[in-house]
Amino acid sequence: MDALKAVPSSRLAVVWSVVTGELARPMDCDTVEGPCRVVDVGGGTGGFAVPLAQAGYEVTVVDPSPNALAGLTRRAADAGVAERVTAVQGDTDALTGLVEPGSVRLVLCHSVLEMVDSPQLSMDAIASVLAPGGAASILGANRVGAVLSRALIGNLSAAMALLNDPDGRVGERDTLCRRFDPEELVTLVASGGLTVEQRHGVQVLADMTPGGRDTEPGAAQALREFEAATAALAPYRDIATHIHVLARKPVG
Ligand SMILES: C[S@@+](CC[C@H](N)C(=O)[O-])C[C@H]1O[C@@H](n2cnc3c(N)ncnc32)[C@H](O)[C@@H]1O
Repeated sequence: MDALKAVPSSRLAVVWSVVTGELARPMDCDTVEGPCRVVDVGGGTGGFAVPLAQAGYEVTVVDPSPNALAGLTRRAADAGVAERVTAVQGDTDALTGLVEPGSVRLVLCHSVLEMVDSPQLSMDAIASVLAPGGAASILGANRVGAVLSRALIGNLSAAMALLNDPDGRVGERDTLCRRFDPEELVTLVASGGLTVEQRHGVQVLADMTPGGRDTEPGAAQALREFEAATAALAPYRDIATHIHVLARKPVG
């Protein structure tokens, strides 16, 4: 594949690093018949799909939103990679009817499990479409990070609501259906028969410090370095805004 030319938001640097590291593993492609296939379920307007297509991968985005898919198509055309990006309208839990089971080398499912009807059915579908040896990149909202970020700005009523709600929501007006505790997300990902190989915190402190807002010279760079140093390190990774898990479907 070509050198990687574009990177999504720097806040997702650790996820990009894990995903591109996974796609660079030559042995995994050998287990999949045909070209390396990447499916980005709930991929929206292509924040990951388009940079991956620019890097040379064929990417199918499955998303129920016609508006998001229209944005994706425009973005892919603007980037000159329309021929490597396929837009399919549909839901995560219907994935097996949209993508051939056992055929996919990498499934991305980023910031989607917190809004689907059934995270379990979605994970089962993701596991079904993966080829043996293929991997899933799952990014989920972390309840712990959400509680701490609200508490640190003094919004203790929202922090307490999140802490006590069974689904980790802040009332009925919350746009998310749920947030996950870190171990809960890891258990969910493994429940479909996948083996969890890596877990990271994404934005360990980025939402809790002024560093990301460039309040002093070098602060943003210092924050990036801090994030890189703590992303894989417990307990820091477990207070991040999001939890990222890479899990693999066993061969045989
Ligand atoms: C927060 S956006 C995330 C977009 C992209 N994955 C990213 O990380 O930038 C959530 C996306 O999930 C899609 N979505 C909502 N419900 C879904 C479902 N049941 N199955 C698949 N995608 C869904 C939305 O249309 C939206 O594009």
